[in-house]
Amino acid sequence: VKQTTAKRQGIHYTPPELAQFLAALLWAQSTAGDGQLRVLDPACGDGALLAAFARAVPANLARRLTLVGYETDNSAIAAARRTLRPLAIGQFKLIESDFLRAACGPESSSPARVGGATADAGFDVVIANPPYVRTQVLGARQAGRLAKQFGLTGRVDLYYAFARAMADVLRPGGTLGLLVSNRFLTIKSGSALRAMLRTQFALDAIYDLGDTKLFAAAVLPAIIVATKQTPTTAACCRFDRVYRHRVEKERSEQPNSGESIPAVSSILSALGDGRTTGLVRAPTGLFHLERGFLADRRPDGIWTLSNAKSKSWLKTVERHVDRRFDDVGRVRVGIKTTADEVFIRDDWDSLPLDERPEPELLRPLLRHFSAARWLSGPQRQAVLYPHLVINGQRAVVDLAAFPNASRYFQRHRRRLTRRKYVIDSGREWYEIWVPHNPADWSLPKIVFPDIAAESRFFLDRCGAVVNGDCYWITLRPGQEADWLLLMLAVANSSFITRFYDIAFHNQLYAGRRRFMTQYVKQFPLPAISSRAAQRAIACARQLVALVDTPSEMPNPLESAEPTGTPKKAHELEREIDEQVWEAFGLEDRIDS
Ligand SMILES: C[S@@+](CC[C@H](N)C(=O)[O-])C[C@H]1O[C@@H](n2cnc3c(N)ncnc32)[C@H](O)[C@@H]1O
Repeated sequence: VKQTTAKRQGIHYTPPELAQFLAALLWAQSTAGDGQLRVLDPACGDGALLAAFARAVPANLARRLTLVGYETDNSAIAAARRTLRPLAIGQFKLIESDFLRAACGPESSSPARVGGATADAGFDVVIANPPYVRTQVLGARQAGRLAKQFGLTGRVDLYYAFARAMADVLRPGGTLGLLVSNRFLTIKSGSALRAMLRTQFALDAIYDLGDTKLFAAAVLPAIIVATKQTPTTAACCRFDRVYRHRVEKERSEQPNSGESIPAVSSILSALGDGRTTGLVRAPTGLFHLERGFLADRRPDGIWTLSNAKSKSWLKTVERHVDRRFDDVGRVRVGIKTTADEVFIRDDWDSLPLDERPEPELLRPLLRHFSAARWLSGPQRQAVLYPHLVINGQRAVVDLAAFPNASRYFQRHRRRLTRRKYVIDSGREWYEIWVPHNPADWSLPKIVFPDIAAESRFFLDRCGAVVNGDCYWITLRPGQEADWLLLMLAVANSSFITRFYDIAFHNQLYAGRRRFMTQYVKQFPLPAISSRAAQRAIACARQLVALVDTPSEMPNPLESAEPTGTPKKAHELEREIDEQVWEAFGLEDRIDS
């Protein structure tokens, strides 16, 4: 399959070891009667998952297997035939057809007709690694059709539609084994899939395979095993997770010197034994394996791992939470110009004099590459920001008053008017699509990048505009100014990294975390009057003042050698960190 076609259709075949792992889990969970066992892969590719299932069951049962595969690519069907033909199984049936149409299209009056099932049937087992395609790639028409068919709103991932259709064709009590992107576990737009799985299935196990690269795709995979039945509230679902080990600041995550790290033959063999936990050394590197259960949350909440250790940790934290970031601050994403090449530049000075926008319209712009801890690094770019406030209302500037900006905009008129949606919504053609309230930029604010391995929250007091690759927090009206420093202290602490990993755990490759509004809003804050909070605020104030040196002076926090002034900054940073842990009742973090 050509790379581009493969990408468009979300084709990443399951590697054999992972197929075997999923099949074994599924077989352990499924119940076979005396009759035939009907197994479906709705997007079977070369048949690897069906074959793995056939190999996972005992030989006498294999002879009673009926394997059904749907696939739209006829060369894959031919490959699947070659995979399945040598197996000693009852029968197999490969259908070159769109599974979604077969399961839900007008030609299927009953889900049980899929794959030629007889009247009351439905499949005993569905095993799948459905195509992973985002709405943008899917095309508006197909996305629209699927949304209508499945009653979806918002973003439509093809695998969600597949999951719904698979649920429809399983018999009650049948088992589902799904290999999907782990994104749906922790993001807002995954809530539809989470809700569907929670309400139509009893969840048996979740494996978050993280950044292990067990799956060739750029997607971080997860495995879900579930039984189709009305879920009982008492049931708890096993949740295991494995991520590459990174040496982080947090002392508790370091391997104890002197203690040897157990060697395992592979990540999956360690995961599969159900016991191994903690750090392991696999041939591909060091990994951190966690075992637990699906945290008991609201039906639409995100899915995270909980175990005795994390539960008691969170309990301690909760006892010390006075409020959340969202209570004292407003968290939002930065501006969106939808024509960055026109609005954002670092070379405004090189434009012809009569096209160089008037200085009052050029504002310093904060972007992820200038993000640092506590205060921002140098800002190279400025944004042409044609918005102001008139009588308390946001307005767009009159270009007649700004002849240079007007000439500049006119030169880019074609590019700007291509943004039809701006004009269609009754706005001026040279407006920024999402400019926010221009009055808010001058408020003191905390800014942070969307993606970072370690939190990089910094204070801005010079009225800079924030770009859409960063988020910003301003205090809600009437809130004490010190809350901003306390938020800064908490957000930059190693405590918050731990809190994030327990409460949200949305990690990408190389330990990078996604600091999205939905998470940051829920970051906890201790009582501002507590001794530790007051100490953290005082240190943060000193630290910010210390870092706020003239630009030709080196930033002490970035100095490699912690001596003299830099040492002071490092000391303050360490003290803030300690006070934040203490403020949440966690003086002894090694065992916490
Ligand atoms: C991610 S691959 C998985 C293949 C195989 N199950 C495995 O795990 O190796 C997804 C497969 O779905 C097929 N596919 C895409 N859309 C489909 C549809 N609507 N109906 C059936 N198959 C489809 C693709 O051709 C591709 O082979």
